[in-house]
Amino acid sequence: ITPLLSTPILAGQRVLITAGGTREPLDPVRFLGNRSSGRQGVALAQAARDAGAEVTLLATHLEVAPPAGVRLVHASSALELRAAVFAEAPGHDVLIMNAAVADFRPANIENSKIKKRDEHSAPVITLVRNPDILAEIVQARAQDATLPSLIVGFAAETGDEQGSVLDYGRSKLARKGCEMLVVNEVGAQLAFGQDTNSIQVLFASQAPSVQATGSKLEVARVVIEQIASAIIGHPH
Ligand code: CTP
Ligand code: CA
Repeated sequence: ITPLLSTPILAGQRVLITAGGTREPLDPVRFLGNRSSGRQGVALAQAARDAGAEVTLLATHLEVAPPAGVRLVHASSALELRAAVFAEAPGHDVLIMNAAVADFRPANIENSKIKKRDEHSAPVITLVRNPDILAEIVQARAQDATLPSLIVGFAAETGDEQGSVLDYGRSKLARKGCEMLVVNEVGAQLAFGQDTNSIQVLFASQAPSVQATGSKLEVARVVIEQIASAIIGHPH
C-alpha cells in the first residue's frame, strides 16, 4: 500500500493555531471552564502540518493528544492565552483562533480555597469581561507588520427568527476584522457528539462562502485549502 502524499500547499508558511478551551480560576483548585475538547484545533494542526506548514499549536485545555511534528505551547486562562498569542504571533504568517475563549472570568481569584464557612450561605461570584484576543490582535496588526497577515476566527452559531447562521457569521466577521471566519453550524439537524462537523468559511474579501461537511479532519483540510488559496491570492 502506497500512502497518499499530501500536496505541500502550505510549505514555508508559519501557522499559529490556538485550540481547546480556557479555564478561568476561582481559587487554587477551582475554575470556570467550557466543553471544548480541542479536537477541531488538533485536526487543524494536523492538516496544516500535513500541508507542509511549520505549526505552533497554542493549546489551552485539550481532551485529546496533540499531533506529532508541531511545536507545542501551553496557556490556561484567557489572560494567559492573550499573553501567549501576543508573544508567539510575531513571525507567523497565519493565525487560526480556534480556542474557545471564556467571555468572562471571576473578578477575584481567592488565594486559598473558598470555604463553606457556615451552614447556609453560598458565595456570589462576580464576573468581569475578558479581552477579545482576536479583535485585539487584528487591531494591533495595523501598527505591527510582524503580526500574521492572515487571521482566521471560528464561531459556533445557531440561526433564529432574527437571522440565519450566515447573517450572524457575516456580522461577527465584520466585528472582528479578521480575513476569514469559519462558522460552525450547531443545532437541531446537526448531530452533536458525532465526529461530523458542518462549516461555512466566510471571507472579508466578499469572496463567496465555502461550505463543507465531514469529519473534523476533513473539515480542517478544507479550511487549510482555503487558507492556502488566500495566501496565493495575496502573497506578501
Ligand atoms: N475570541 C477571542 N477572545 C474572546 C472571545 C472570543 O479571541 N474573548 C475569538 C474566538 O477564539 C473565536 C472568535 O473570537 O475565534 C469568535 O468567538 P465567539 O465566542 O463566537 O465570539 P464572541 O465575540 O465571543 O461573541 P459571542 O457573544 O457570540 O460569544
Ligand atoms: Ca464568546
